[in-house]
Amino acid sequence: MTKPTILVTRRLPVAVEQRLQQDYTAWLNPSDQPYSSAELIAKSQGADALLISLTDRLTADLIQQLPTSVKAIATFSVGYDHIDLAAAHQRQLAVIYTPGVLTEATADATLLLLLGAARRASEGEQLLRSGNWQGIRPTELLGTEVHGKRLGIYGMGRIGQAVAQRARGFMMEIHYHNRHRLPPEREQGAVFHEQVEDLLRVSDFLSLHCPSTPETEGFLNASRIALLPDRAIVINAARGTLIVEDDLIAALRSGKIAAVGLDVYQNEPHVNPALRSLPNTFLLPHLGSATVETRTAMGMLLIDNLNALFAGKQPLNLVKIG
Ligand code: DGY
Repeated sequence: MTKPTILVTRRLPVAVEQRLQQDYTAWLNPSDQPYSSAELIAKSQGADALLISLTDRLTADLIQQLPTSVKAIATFSVGYDHIDLAAAHQRQLAVIYTPGVLTEATADATLLLLLGAARRASEGEQLLRSGNWQGIRPTELLGTEVHGKRLGIYGMGRIGQAVAQRARGFMMEIHYHNRHRLPPEREQGAVFHEQVEDLLRVSDFLSLHCPSTPETEGFLNASRIALLPDRAIVINAARGTLIVEDDLIAALRSGKIAAVGLDVYQNEPHVNPALRSLPNTFLLPHLGSATVETRTAMGMLLIDNLNALFAGKQPLNLVKIG
């Protein structure tokens, strides 16, 4: 029996590429250069499925031009805001994603951002690397304690809950807003705010953990920032589009927001130069799920799902469309 053909748009961890080559005719991308839309359409000719990543923007226009051979799109991500789901639905394409396996790594990275922003890690590192550090000083780079502070979590799904679990270990008080209140065993003492405005008012630290949708895009804008306590710290490891960056930058400049820890940006990979130059920003290049274990698990999960699909079974991690 001939193996199905998968077009793989970026380099993947070695074990994942090996398994893809074993189970499929895998068209890999050894250069790891992202494909343009035209290249992606051209390279898809004859492929049964595409294994894409966040850098591939599957617009309605692009999806409509995919060859009929393509039956599925597997995205190497838990987020799928880069795929036009309505167009995929219209073309009857299965869309597979990676929920669950990146929860712990992303929650760890969120705490890294939270602590890095609170303790001015970026400034400290730059001082040390510059060769200008003169030795410990009692007033040097004083940060903010996290202990005893209120952490507001916007979006209490898997990752939000894993962040809450870690933050409890740092003795933070957990508050959250979610579409639905969690049952007590999953809430674990966290304070639910039905109105997001009430969450903002108590968030000494605010961490965003919702998907990017037309409803959540631009969520953190000037009027919502104004509700935060003065000198709040904002963390975002979800999607850059959740924040109006110009409003955030204004608040970082005025001191309304003391610091920010960001892993994601409105216009990736272009990062607003103001964010790069302000001292009170702790910035990572979208590393939330970037561990060997997690990235390997993400790839293996996609292959399990593709194997199910091509065996005529229902894949476990299908995005529900329509
Ligand atoms: C995702 O999976 O959506 C993350 O943003 C990247 O791993």
